[in-house]
This record gives sequence, C-alpha cells and structure tokens, in this order.
Amino acid sequence: MTIQWFPGHMTRARRQIEEKLKLIDVVFELLDARIPASSRNPMVDEITGSKPRLVLLNKADLADPEQTAEWSRYFRDKGLAVHAIDANAGSGVKELAGKSKELLKEKIDRQLAKGMKPRPIRALIVGIPNVGKSTLINRLAGRNIAQTGDRPGVTKGQQWIRFGGELELLDTPGILWPKFDDPIVGFRLAATGAIKEDVLHLDEVACFVLKVLVEEYGTVLGERYGLTELPSELPDMQTAVEVLESIGKRRGCIVSGGHVDYEKAATVLLRDLRSGKLGRMTLERPDATGELA
Ligand code: G4P
Repeated sequence: MTIQWFPGHMTRARRQIEEKLKLIDVVFELLDARIPASSRNPMVDEITGSKPRLVLLNKADLADPEQTAEWSRYFRDKGLAVHAIDANAGSGVKELAGKSKELLKEKIDRQLAKGMKPRPIRALIVGIPNVGKSTLINRLAGRNIAQTGDRPGVTKGQQWIRFGGELELLDTPGILWPKFDDPIVGFRLAATGAIKEDVLHLDEVACFVLKVLVEEYGTVLGERYGLTELPSELPDMQTAVEVLESIGKRRGCIVSGGHVDYEKAATVLLRDLRSGKLGRMTLERPDATGELA
C-alpha cells in the first residue's frame, strides 16, 4: 500500500509513535535490506530519541548477502545494533529477544544487582509502509493479528504480544513516512514496491533497475531473458530503453503495429525483480549513500 504523505499525516504519525515510545524499552527499526538507506526515514533518530534501537534489515532473503553484510558493517560503524531477518520465512526472528537483551544489558544488570526480577523487554516496530511490519508482528505472534496495510490515524486497542517469555511486542507498529524528493530514492522505493508505481513512470523505474542490473549484476539479464551483447553500462536513458525494448520483444510485450509495449515490459521486469526471480539483489550500496542520519 502507499500513503501520500502530507505535513498533517507526518505530524500525526510522529505523535502516535511518540505516544507508543512511552510504553516500550527498545525500538525495532525495520528497513528493506535491498534499499536500507532509501527505506529509512531520515528523521528516525529524532523521532525515536534516546530509546535503544535495533536496526532490522528485513527481506534479507531477496537481498544480495554480500551487500547485506556490507550494510550491517555500515550501521555498526554508525554505532547501531543491526540484524538481518526474513520476516516471511522467520529466519533471524528468534534471535530478537537475545539481541534486545544485549542492548539493554546495563539496565538489566542494574535491576538484577538490586535484586529485582527483570520484566519482559517491551518492543515497538517502526518502519515505512510495505517494509514488512505486519508480517513481522504476525510472525512473532505466531498468528495473523496485524492486518497488512494498516495506516496512521486508524486507532484500535493496543495489545502486547508475548514472545518467548522475555520479549513483548506492541501489536500496532509505528508507521514512518518515506522521503523521496531525490528521484533515485523514489526509483528504489518504487522498484521494491514500497511506493505505488503510479507515483512514478513505470518505464523510468524499469530503466533505473536495468542500469543497476547491467552495471552491478552483469549476467542476470542474459540468463533470465536470453539477452546477448548487452553493454557493460547504461550511461543514459536511451540505452536503458533499448534494453527494455529487447526484454519486451523476448517476452511478447507487443502492441498493434508490432511495437513494444514498454509498460508491459517494465511490469514483467519489476515483477521478476520483486519476486526474486532475477536472484538476490541490493539496489544501493552503502558507499553511494553519503551521510546518513
Ligand atoms: P507493512 O506492514 O510494513 O506495510 O508490510 P507488510 O507486512 O504488509 O509486508 C509487505 C509485503 O512484504 C508483503 O507481501 C509481505 O509478504 C512481504 N514481506 C514482508 N517481509 C518479508 C520478507 O522478509 N521477505 C519477503 N520476501 N517478503 C516479505 P504481499 O502481501 O505480497 O504484498 P505486496 O508484495 O503485494 O505488496
């Protein structure tokens, strides 16, 4: 789902997160492992304040493992705890209690020293739409309690989901808004399905993806679509459109008059990317992002 963010939305979403923060010990900041910087709300530091935070690189099953390791290093270098997960299949999820305990070790040790029995750690998931918040909540709950596609402004009773005796999770996530005034960030968000395609032109999103594929994952297009004689880089839109045209021809995306239906070809490419049929890939590198918050 997509949210059109307006200042009023942002203020309300922010206020809702601030209310939830009063109830919890640790924030799980969910990012898309394929686009960790672009799926990050740049105001997250400010919004979550001094709460201990664990960055979760979700959809790691779809991301390039080497790049996920790079990104993990990147966040650790920034002083943040980080962990890669696949909320769909559940891999990495059972470690969340242990990771949270590590983050709160000093506080827990203080409680133990005073003879207090530490209560379960209370966590809140925050992240932009479609990053997998509901999937993770349902995975931790072991059942479908969070509706996928919830939106800010819809209030319902909040409940705690107990996870293994040591961790409790608020069943309503904090919804952050994506920031995409930079067109490349917009392309990354659209390519992974974080924002609706109609926000941007589909064929432009596809051309952006083709550039990454040709320049970073050279053999993929040949293997998937039987394309030969691909250039080693796509320096401009025109060369990218030519590659899209070849995919369209290969996949029978033809309109009357024998011309390629670019939008259909783009849909084929993006569907293949999102479902992992092109292989595991990451659409941005830590070194290309500049300074992150
Ligand atoms: P949200 O609450 O943050 O908005 O996200 P939600 O859980 O609804 O997840 C969005 C989509 O991402 C869902 O796909 C979900 O299955 C998928 N997803 C979540 N976590 C993972 C993961 O770790 N790996 C993979 N491969 N997919 C994940 P969907 O229902 O098919 O929605 P859509 O793809 O049609 O938007």
